[in-house]
Amino acid sequence: MVNPVEMDQSDQAAGSLFSPSLQAIPMPGIRRMINTAAGMDDVIHLSIGQPDFATPDHIVEAHIDALREGKTGYTMDAGLPELLEALRDYYSERYDRPLTEDNFLVTTGATEAMYLALTATAAPGRQFIVTDPTFVLYAPLIRMNGGEVKIIPTRAEHGHQIDPQEVIDAIGMRTFAIVLNSPSNPSGAVYPQETVEAIVQEAAYRGVYVFADEVYDHLILDDMDFPSVIRCTSDLDHVMSISSFSKTFSMAGLRIGWIISSQGAIKKLRRYHMFTTTVANTPAQWAGVAALRGDRSCVDDMVAEYRRRRDRVVQLVSETPHLTGYWPQGAFYIFPSLPPRTDGTSLALRMLEETGVCVIPGDAFGDTCSNAIRISFSNSMDNIEEAFERIIPWLAKQKF
Ligand SMILES: Cc1ncc(COP(=O)(O)O)c(C=O)c1O
Repeated sequence: MVNPVEMDQSDQAAGSLFSPSLQAIPMPGIRRMINTAAGMDDVIHLSIGQPDFATPDHIVEAHIDALREGKTGYTMDAGLPELLEALRDYYSERYDRPLTEDNFLVTTGATEAMYLALTATAAPGRQFIVTDPTFVLYAPLIRMNGGEVKIIPTRAEHGHQIDPQEVIDAIGMRTFAIVLNSPSNPSGAVYPQETVEAIVQEAAYRGVYVFADEVYDHLILDDMDFPSVIRCTSDLDHVMSISSFSKTFSMAGLRIGWIISSQGAIKKLRRYHMFTTTVANTPAQWAGVAALRGDRSCVDDMVAEYRRRRDRVVQLVSETPHLTGYWPQGAFYIFPSLPPRTDGTSLALRMLEETGVCVIPGDAFGDTCSNAIRISFSNSMDNIEEAFERIIPWLAKQKF
């Protein structure tokens, strides 16, 4: 199903009960799509924001074993020691740098990690640079706490890449942090090492933080090493890298994520974490230990299938009238554009009603992309083929 955060909406009628800061939470057009789809038969969802694979067996077994063995109490506030050690070993090796357990905080998914990082730092007078389109969470969390959002638009014609110089030029007196999300939801863009390095190094020089949402860090669909912010900095004083098990191991409902940062930042965030969720789910943390310590060929298999689908979806998009695609290198999304000034929301709704194919309209992901749609390829190849068999002739008949 669609990620619940992406669906979240405030109920205007409840108005006076809640703090005015809740008004920062937007009302995207997603609910309408999903509600409409729920009342229809034979819908193909290219709207899905989570993996469509079963959680690998050895991870499920570890979760069940933890429950059966009574591992159901609270863990340490920073996380289960065995998981902290597994994360330390895994990332020290992956990024070829010595990390300690104190560089990690285990959270309830990347969502809590991002919540902690942004709400602990956003404040009036602090500006955060955010790309547009981007994942729905960041701007509302910043604005809820009085922070200011400065947008850097990206475009399908450039594969939704960011120009590092544009980001650097946008840094001003009030800039406090830059939020990066690579591989990106909704675009699937992966920022190359040179881009991440240029931004992280300039930010460190100027005393600006980089918050990197790296939940799709393993879903790299081309032959390249993932350019994490952790690879691009000699110390962790100005970066926080956030990830989770949700996408890599198809464990979205188990809700385990983490932050990697300097020991000082982690120490502060531990206290905040204790006052929000206390600790992450204990049996699910044991499942996470199994994910990191066990056989990881399951991830390679899932990535290989996403790659196969990506190749086909790019081809199908290029054969679809009025859609401009590009080559997404990560995650399981493509975010093609419709002709300029098209209202993506009403088009997506009509397309759903008339073809039964559900996609997410671009304005769910920002203000500058209402002529785009997000297509997820977290669905079987057969369903993807069938969806395009429906939408290609339908779009061919539309007038723009
Ligand atoms: C970019 C991005 N960040 C964070 C999340 C949430 O991840 P988690 O399930 O770990 O909370 C998602 C889920 O769709 C996402 O796409």
